[in-house]
Amino acid sequence: MKLFAVTGNPIAHSKSPELFALAYGTAQEQFAYFRLAADSASEAFGICKDLGIRGINITAPFKSDFVSLSTHLSPEVQTLSCCNTLLFEGDEVKAYNTDIEGVLGALRQAEVPLDGLSCLVLGAGSAGRTAAYALHSVGAKVTIVNRTLEKAQSAAQSIACLHISAQEIEGYLPQVELIVNTISGEQSLLPTQSLSPQHTLFDAVYHQSSFRDISKQQGCRYIAGNYWLLHQAIPSFRRFTGVAPDVEAMRAIFTERKSSPRHIALIGFMGTGKSTIAPLLAQMLGLPTVDTDVEIEQRCAMTVPEIIAQRGITYFRQQEQAVVHELLARSESHVISCGGGVITQSALAQRLKSSATVVWLYASPSVCLERINVATRPLLAQQSEPLQAAQQLFAERKFAYAHTAHLLINASVNNPQVISQKIYDQIHTLHQH
Ligand code: S3P
Repeated sequence: MKLFAVTGNPIAHSKSPELFALAYGTAQEQFAYFRLAADSASEAFGICKDLGIRGINITAPFKSDFVSLSTHLSPEVQTLSCCNTLLFEGDEVKAYNTDIEGVLGALRQAEVPLDGLSCLVLGAGSAGRTAAYALHSVGAKVTIVNRTLEKAQSAAQSIACLHISAQEIEGYLPQVELIVNTISGEQSLLPTQSLSPQHTLFDAVYHQSSFRDISKQQGCRYIAGNYWLLHQAIPSFRRFTGVAPDVEAMRAIFTERKSSPRHIALIGFMGTGKSTIAPLLAQMLGLPTVDTDVEIEQRCAMTVPEIIAQRGITYFRQQEQAVVHELLARSESHVISCGGGVITQSALAQRLKSSATVVWLYASPSVCLERINVATRPLLAQQSEPLQAAQQLFAERKFAYAHTAHLLINASVNNPQVISQKIYDQIHTLHQH
């Protein structure tokens, strides 16, 4: 079984996890794919190593930062100093840049003839450099422009293409056919009133692109960045799995309507802070909150340790199943804090995944043990080596957590307020689409 993750700027690439999840289709039991929220490349890298993640699809703003963490760089990554796909193979970490295929695939799909095409790339960051490199490699005439001239100059030098200053854009536009924008809306360098029907505008920034309407107004052709996203995902998927993806399933993500907001379920090993974080998150979201263990205790008029000691773990799981089903059936959205073992019943875990946005709070078993009173945890209390027992239990459950989660949040730092805020930001982004 293999774990994959996607990591990076939550706003720019929030659809990527679904892209891959859809393509896995019937092979779902072999793979788990989820979004990994992180504040830095090194944080995401550490979690990948901890969990034995097999590959990640990296999004802005971490595409350059992962290069120095990798042991093998593809020739394109060496030239461009940015990557979007990482494979972990034993101690080796291999970095690739499939955004090159993303750019070319999108333009080919739009039937733009590339050989000899006069292109202006706005931005010399990782997306800009990659677009310029891709276009140059197929014989287009490429010019890079960037607010900071030196950045444009050094990018152009590494790719062997041209560069101009931001002040020169307006005068340059009449000789340009394709404009690739990699700079987000408000900072855009483009004098939009100078766009004309001779221009095709390919916007890498697909989240709330302002250029769609502008292109319409100016009578020029518009190509959405979604196609870039799709076409980079295809070779990344192949690298992850060794097989070709179901491209039509991937494509469907762009036409699918997001269902209305649903429950939010927190899962994760005992001690990751689910019960503390759920009420904080619920308050931020203005939703009611509920804790499955508390519900079970109320139903049975006994504590969880008493239930497990007197009636057995199977009885407890039955109660848990009934409670989770009942909570998920409620029409009002809730923030649900789930007991750490909820994912051990696979049908229940799948039901959870289909009815809630599932957030996996992750901390290593040793960090978890520091936070809990082992004596009050029935699955660990009788163990002579609680740490070993917890590590063993986590190893057995890891894939089930990954398979159930939409999103992983690092809960290693014991700061419930900060973690709640992170979840809130991510949930907001996921529900915006
Ligand atoms: C369990 C975790 C506990 C509780 C029960 C079983 C588990 O919840 O549901 O003791 O199997 O991991 P917490 O994760 O809230 O401790």
